[in-house]
Amino acid sequence: MTEDLGGLTKKWQAAVAAAASVEALEAIRVEALGKKGEITGLMKRLAGMTPDERKAAGQRFNQVKDAVAAAIEARKGLLGEAAIDARLASEKLDMTLPVAASREGRLHPISQTIDEIITIFGEMGFKVAEGPDIEDDFHNFTALNIPPDHPARQMHDTFYLGGADASRPGSDSVGASDGSRHTNPAALGAGKDGGDSSRAGSAGVGGAAGAASASRTAAGEGPSTRLYGKAATPTDLEGRRLLRTHTSPVQIRYMQAHKPPMRVIAPGRTYRCDSDMTHTPMFHQVEGLVLDETTHMGHLKGCLTEFCRAFFGVADLPLRFRPSFFPFTEPSAEVDIGCSRKGGELKLGNYGDWLEILGCGMVHPKVLEMGGIDPTRYQGFAFGMGIERIAMLKYGIPDLRTFFEADQRWLAHYGFAPLEVPSLVQGAGR
Ligand code: DAH
Repeated sequence: MTEDLGGLTKKWQAAVAAAASVEALEAIRVEALGKKGEITGLMKRLAGMTPDERKAAGQRFNQVKDAVAAAIEARKGLLGEAAIDARLASEKLDMTLPVAASREGRLHPISQTIDEIITIFGEMGFKVAEGPDIEDDFHNFTALNIPPDHPARQMHDTFYLGGADASRPGSDSVGASDGSRHTNPAALGAGKDGGDSSRAGSAGVGGAAGAASASRTAAGEGPSTRLYGKAATPTDLEGRRLLRTHTSPVQIRYMQAHKPPMRVIAPGRTYRCDSDMTHTPMFHQVEGLVLDETTHMGHLKGCLTEFCRAFFGVADLPLRFRPSFFPFTEPSAEVDIGCSRKGGELKLGNYGDWLEILGCGMVHPKVLEMGGIDPTRYQGFAFGMGIERIAMLKYGIPDLRTFFEADQRWLAHYGFAPLEVPSLVQGAGR
């Protein structure tokens, strides 16, 4: 072996060191170690040697090969990093470019507001209860201490379900009435199958003579004498189907199905035959019910104060409990929150002016009885408020009707990111 193997190693190491790119390095690797490479050529010579020569030469050739291969690997690493650095240096992010338009859906403000309400009352230990949108007269009125001849019924602008099918759950024959508000008592006629009106979904309307669906009393006629006259027995009336006019019937259904102590809210849709700037035929309410042996008005005030302050995000928001009347509570109150209307702009806080937002009171003993709860042992409070109203106040939405127009542009503006769940830590809202 006459070759200067040390020189050969150095020659290739120098070539490797001089390679300026990954591609140049690869070319060098092929020239040195590829199939026809110079160093591979050394190995081929081993075949013509005696075993002793081969052993000694093989070792030395391998040293050359390993040294050059190691140099290539090291250089490759360096050139790779350099290539990344060069790319990073050449590629710049232009932060001034406008972002691509988002196609993510938006959560309706009603859904968002209900989530917020649930979050806040959830922190206070409330559960969520639900009841049917299609109610019967008993749960919507009578059990709430609004007997058939009670004037409060007239204030509710009820949608009654008429027709022979009215007693079937899911019936789509909805009888709306206008000024006179009630369907014709003749439609109630012969159906004497009212039965157990306290049961959910009990049937009391319709029957053989019930075909005169959704007819109306003549405009201007007082509804009560005609409707609650001899044509129908109270049982017929109580089983009569209607779209619930408030969420209060959920109180009755919950009481009938559970034992105190209880602490529930019931958000949901409600319906009244009314439509103008500030009323839509369908709207939302949230009901609250708390019963225990010693629950008192102080708890009611504390609970609602806590809620309003958390919901509106005003820590010192003042609340005013104004004596009022509801058939289902005694005593009853309407709650106002502090505000200012200066300069036509509404601000919430301790500014001396007041804005009504909800009704509440101590549950009437008769209502407890109707719910199957002993009024000599249990007492508590209830409240009800309109969800659109508090959503409009909180999020500055000026027109109620826009809530239900299903306008994508409106939703893009007033809607909420669907995956951002409200929490009290971030102030239950945005
Ligand atoms: N149900 C009433 C309404 O629709 C609101 C309400 C007032 C509910 C007082 C209550 C209450 O539970 O205690 O106008």
